[in-house]
Amino acid sequence: MAEKKVVKIKGKKRMPKSNKAYISELKNNVGRQVSLFGWLYQARSSGKIQFLIIRDGTGLCQCIVEKGEVADEVFEELKHLGQESSLSVTGTVRADERSIGSYELAVTGAKIIHSTADYPITPKSHGIDFLLKHRHLHLRSQRQWCIGRIRHTLIDAVRRFFNDNGFILIDTPIFTATAGEEEQTLFEVDYFGENLHLAQTGQLYLESAAASFGRVYCFGPTFRAERSKTRRHLSEFWMVEPEVAFIDLDGLLELAESFVCFIVAEVLQRNKNELERLGADISALEKIQPPFYRLSYTEAAQILTGQRTKDFLAKELKELQDLKEQAEGKISELEEKQQGKLKQWQKDKIAAELIELCSELAEINARIENNPKHARLAAEFQWGKDLGGSDETIISQMHDKPVFVTHYPKRAKAFYMKTDRDNEDVVLNFDLLAPAGFGEIIGGSVREDDYDKLVKRINEQGLRLENYEWYLDLRKYGSVPHGGFGLGIERTVAWLTGERHIRQCIAFPRMMDRVYI
Ligand code: 4AD
Ligand code: MG
Repeated sequence: MAEKKVVKIKGKKRMPKSNKAYISELKNNVGRQVSLFGWLYQARSSGKIQFLIIRDGTGLCQCIVEKGEVADEVFEELKHLGQESSLSVTGTVRADERSIGSYELAVTGAKIIHSTADYPITPKSHGIDFLLKHRHLHLRSQRQWCIGRIRHTLIDAVRRFFNDNGFILIDTPIFTATAGEEEQTLFEVDYFGENLHLAQTGQLYLESAAASFGRVYCFGPTFRAERSKTRRHLSEFWMVEPEVAFIDLDGLLELAESFVCFIVAEVLQRNKNELERLGADISALEKIQPPFYRLSYTEAAQILTGQRTKDFLAKELKELQDLKEQAEGKISELEEKQQGKLKQWQKDKIAAELIELCSELAEINARIENNPKHARLAAEFQWGKDLGGSDETIISQMHDKPVFVTHYPKRAKAFYMKTDRDNEDVVLNFDLLAPAGFGEIIGGSVREDDYDKLVKRINEQGLRLENYEWYLDLRKYGSVPHGGFGLGIERTVAWLTGERHIRQCIAFPRMMDRVYI
């Protein structure tokens, strides 16, 4: 952006007509006069100088307002401006390593666009219920901003990976008559008097499209009436699903592996700053390189019921107890500090730290409480059951890279999965577990391509055959080995950002027990 010249009218020196700039562009404007348009994020004043932190959607910038450098009435107005008031500020860009974002603005003028008082979300933290009720405003918080930007990169990388690797995008329907996954999780809708449901997956349609285009993918919202309130479940989530003709299980694992490595590398490259601010484990993400670990379901079951899991959980309990002690120590230290003579901003800072620590402590306590429960569930694990959330957590905590778990028992999985012809009790499928306890982010399989076997599976599961006639046709006319998988966007964002609950990983979450906004 070029600097505009000082305009001289009738011999008088006027303020330069300044250039609108975004905070993300300040690095290219050092020494220039620019105007920023944004919201007041934080303000601190020490008599003759005010430090205003402005956010404009692209970043944060500290704006320094010195008395005498701006008109007196503007100085006074700014002094009383409430958090989240909207304004424009004009000034000269300076580079300063210590400043938030490394650049600051030496302010020469400001214009208040909308003055706000009593913004409900203050720098002192709030409980999660309060924040969810105020999601429309909470989206402006730095945490949500960082997560939203990472989600954006992730989705862009997902599309690029498939577009650049010969996949054709197919938009699959949301109103469907077929059930792709468990029937218990269908949302029913009255479709002009007919009983349909919202798509749980686009997979069955993709199988049809794969026979036309070879490699296809769909990407959209999917719906599950999950009667569970866990941190891993939403009723509406986004899933990307590739489907490939002429592929076997090894081919699918390779595809999933290179796909996951690509999206992680993109996020690392484009969002390091956001990852750092969220406290994500960047060095752990940098390790996400092929090959991932591969375990069969049977091996996973042996690990769960064996000594390795017992030792692992005992060690975890010990570590958690140490962490609890540390957190409690820090909390009482801060509480003591709070009693002293402090400035308002110092009090706010301590209050925010305390809320953060208390929520960390609550999390540690919950994990301490769950540890023996998880140990019991793992010890009692029986071959034939699907892996539960805590089982996945244990396996994934034991690994520093994603883990493929393959060959699940047929009876625990969906009707469309192809059986292993060498052992008809298991299917040619996989779940990909993200490391460090995050659990499943991908589920996929080779599809049953034999007409008679598929009819048998549909009947065994009590599904209405007439709804699947079109799907069965694919096994009548040029049936080929094929398969694919689905990656859940919110779970992946949670893993990358280190966010525990996936409700924080979508702007407006839908959960079983709440849809506020
Ligand atoms: O394992 P799922 O159920 O697999 C399918 O839907 C297959 N039809 C995909 C395919 O083969 N084309 O779901 C795939 C992924 C899970 O690994 C998880 O990341 C995510 O979707 N997911 C959920 N995310 C949030 N909330 C829920 N209730 C989810 N259910 C599944
Ligand atoms: Mg699954």
